[in-house]
Amino acid sequence: MSTQVKMSIQLKDETLREIEAVIPRYPQSRSALMPILHAVQADLGHIPLEAQEWVADKLGLTPIQVREVVTFYPYYREHPIGKRYIRVCRTLSCALNGAYKICDHFKREFDTDLNVISPDGRVTVEFAECLASCGTAPVAMVDDDLYENLTEEKVVEICNRIKQETPSSTQE
Ligand code: FES
Repeated sequence: MSTQVKMSIQLKDETLREIEAVIPRYPQSRSALMPILHAVQADLGHIPLEAQEWVADKLGLTPIQVREVVTFYPYYREHPIGKRYIRVCRTLSCALNGAYKICDHFKREFDTDLNVISPDGRVTVEFAECLASCGTAPVAMVDDDLYENLTEEKVVEICNRIKQETPSSTQE
């Protein structure tokens, strides 16, 4: 299927190849929506409106049909994030074991608020729903790594490691 919508955002060639390979695996091309969104986010870090329009055109959907999926699933992001993605679980076990304080420690370490890129560009801190590790609450994920039984000391340790490993976007 040829796409009429041109994106000024450039996807990598390998992402475009992946998308072209995914579509024929489904009896209806629209069923490929989620894997394609996954590929776009893996490439760009998020799924901007322009990319949503491009995907919609490619699959014969309307942009709002794509946006409904992007905004329904917490996994998908419409906005850019910092270099590292910190998600603090706030569901019951974690909430009862101090998740909100844990989140405050992460925010304080990077002098940031929730759901925005920190001033140094290093992180975005967000709340998440149950991360399937309720027995070791409170927990958080940094990118794909799970951190359990969090305390303020452990948060400081994690943040120091991130600061060492991840360059700041600003001069320090
Ligand atoms: S409640 Fe936090 S991991 Fe389940």
